[in-house]
Amino acid sequence: MSNIISPLKRVTVKASNEYQILIGRGLLARAGELIADFIPKCKIALITDDTVDALYSGVVEKSLISSGYSVIKFVFSHGEQSKNLETYGKILNFLAQNGVTRTDCVVALGGGVTGDMAGFVSATYLRGIKCVQMPTTLLAQIDSSVGGKTAVDLPAGKNLVGAFCQPKLVLCDVDTLSTLPDEIYRDGMGEVAKYALLDKKIYSLINGGDYQIEDLIYRCVDYKRQIVEKDEFEGGLRRLLNLGHTPAHGIERLSNYTIPHGKAVAMGLNIVVENACKHGYIAQSTKSEMLSAISKCAGELTLPYSVKDILENALTDKKRSGDSIAVIMPYGIGDAREVKIEVSKLWGYLT
Ligand code: NAD
Ligand code: GLY
Repeated sequence: MSNIISPLKRVTVKASNEYQILIGRGLLARAGELIADFIPKCKIALITDDTVDALYSGVVEKSLISSGYSVIKFVFSHGEQSKNLETYGKILNFLAQNGVTRTDCVVALGGGVTGDMAGFVSATYLRGIKCVQMPTTLLAQIDSSVGGKTAVDLPAGKNLVGAFCQPKLVLCDVDTLSTLPDEIYRDGMGEVAKYALLDKKIYSLINGGDYQIEDLIYRCVDYKRQIVEKDEFEGGLRRLLNLGHTPAHGIERLSNYTIPHGKAVAMGLNIVVENACKHGYIAQSTKSEMLSAISKCAGELTLPYSVKDILENALTDKKRSGDSIAVIMPYGIGDAREVKIEVSKLWGYLT
């Protein structure tokens, strides 16, 4: 095993595949050495988008090659519009044309778009090959690289085709966040706001305001780990991680996916908290605390659509069953529960 230096934080996820999440600085330059503890020498298919490629592929490739891996690389255009069957198919063909076998490995270097799509490739190519996640956005480091949800979008909606497939290793190099534009960093903080409402320790960290980003990432990942270990395939408990996501999906759809996921989640949380108070699930004082935590994370947000329009769009959400829709309702800081609401009474906004 590598001699892991002390500032490195480590979370072990005991899911269908046990794996480690390493959080620290300078990890991309040590990628080969760190991966070597978990993946035998093989061909590595590095999947990344054009923005991340220009910033970080060089250092990762150099490290992998010097540790004895051979590397092939597939680069796609950045953005959610690439997370589709066409790009997915091109990556599969690229792997096949380059003779990637079941003993080889996919590395996803980038944000949630790269991680979701490369993860889905690894879940399905040759009925499954190994995957290492190297998340480079805050959103991907605290959420999407962990827990094994992989997917691409269909014209009918986001993440409509995918698989559960846990990675073999996650390397969160916090240094990569230094090149993130502020707006994209803020999007990640939208998902952090979700964790702050779900977990009292993360709420305190956000409320106190004085934290190291490594600690925040560690707390979020460790919270997600606990949930994933108990409910890997989202039979129940894991649905708590969808707090704010029903209206968020409505917002993303209405914007034709120009409003990024994390920002939509922060907006969705505001809607859910307002309505939880309106319908007596939380007290006014709790509502104020929650709204303040959301704005500390994601800033002041103005809803670009009416709540009625947002919720009507949310009705096509995957969570709908018959005349009711399951939503995650905040009951207090650190306490959220799934409740079924009749579509006709969705938070009282629709009649
Ligand atoms: P993204 O991958 O598109 O990254 C956002 C932008 O940041 C891109 O333009 C990218 O090129 C750029 N970028 C990435 N790293 C950078 C860096 N270090 N420096 C400069 N620029 C960088 O989007 P995202 O916000 O990371 O992820 C959103 C996606 O994640 C959505 O598709 C969403 O559905 C998915 N998601 C998945 C899960 C899951 O559990 N699988 C959870 C939440 C979100
Ligand atoms: N982002 C929600 C989940 O991973 O379950």
